Amino acid sequence: MAIIEADGLSKTYRVFQKREGVLGALRGLFHREYKEVRAVDRVSFTIEPGEMVAFLGPNGAGKTTTLKMLSGLIDPSSGSASVLGFTPWKRDDAFRRRFALVMGQKNQLWWDLPASDSFMLHKEIYSIPEAQFQSTLDELTELLEVKHLTRQAVRELSLGERMKMELIAALLHQPSVLLLDEPTIGLDVVAQVRIQNCLREYHKRRGVTVILTSHYMRDVEALCDRVLVITRGKLVYDGLLSGIHDRFAGMKLVRLEFFESVPEGLERYGEISRIEGPVVDLKVDRDRVAEALGAILDGHAVADLSVQDPPLEQVIARVFEEGRSDHEAA
Ligand SMILES: Nc1ncnc2c1ncn2[C@@H]1O[C@H](COP(=O)(O)OP(=O)(O)O)[C@@H](O)[C@H]1O
Ligand SMILES: [Mg+2]
Repeated sequence: MAIIEADGLSKTYRVFQKREGVLGALRGLFHREYKEVRAVDRVSFTIEPGEMVAFLGPNGAGKTTTLKMLSGLIDPSSGSASVLGFTPWKRDDAFRRRFALVMGQKNQLWWDLPASDSFMLHKEIYSIPEAQFQSTLDELTELLEVKHLTRQAVRELSLGERMKMELIAALLHQPSVLLLDEPTIGLDVVAQVRIQNCLREYHKRRGVTVILTSHYMRDVEALCDRVLVITRGKLVYDGLLSGIHDRFAGMKLVRLEFFESVPEGLERYGEISRIEGPVVDLKVDRDRVAEALGAILDGHAVADLSVQDPPLEQVIARVFEEGRSDHEAA
């Protein structure tokens, strides 16, 4: 049975529009004008227990808004969702005890105090029994390699170390569902990889169900097989990361090496993206690759050839771009 389920989940924000000039501002006192922002638009999906799924999308796509609804911080405008059998925005106490939300851009720990003080507070809030608290804390500080830092004021820690402390605080009550909103934002690549490794290991040990949002392809590639791609509030893809090529990459990259120089006329098979000495890179329509290769090999002596998918990063960037132009056209 699904542990997380969203059905037609939508959120429209009403944003107050400022009028221009003094007169406008005065009129605004009496007649407020609002603009509606459809942040999440009829999003539906289901997630099974133990899955680790990524929400991938550009800034402003609606990822955070979706997580906020799934954790009950805000109500949806329409649609429904169920997490662990609860309707999140009913804010059941039993629900609160079984999930955790970590936002990379927001601190939940006390800045001027050592993380261990915040951990103690969490222990009280969630009424975690002493023995369980100690063993979980030991396990987590060891896993994240921050045992020696818990007595140091949080503000003195590096961004990556702080993120680890946030994760520990969120995991102390052993939630079954973990929602992570941009957990690696602002981190350098080394710190990013450390957090990824910790998350992978924790997930393996505990089988916790995880949704992670990111606009970094790297996080997603490192952690999740399944991705939900969201642009402009709409879910445009739900499937394996590896399937994105088939769905969105219209072409393959064909690299040909000739014995002497690159012959003329190759542009009839696809777009030439690079020529260097006897090597040429061609972008060929996926369904014309076989035909094009046949024709080229027929007419020319080829020393070497390879056919590849374009880099996932590029494909995703294109999906994001399409979302943008759709919106502008509408
Ligand atoms: N509290 C809010 N009030 C009004 N508009 C909002 C609010 N929060 C987010 N938005 C708008 O909703 C859209 C989606 O935002 P968000 O969910 O934060 O996207 P993401 O997390 O994918 O970057 C954006 O256009 C954003 O400006
Ligand atoms: Mg966000």
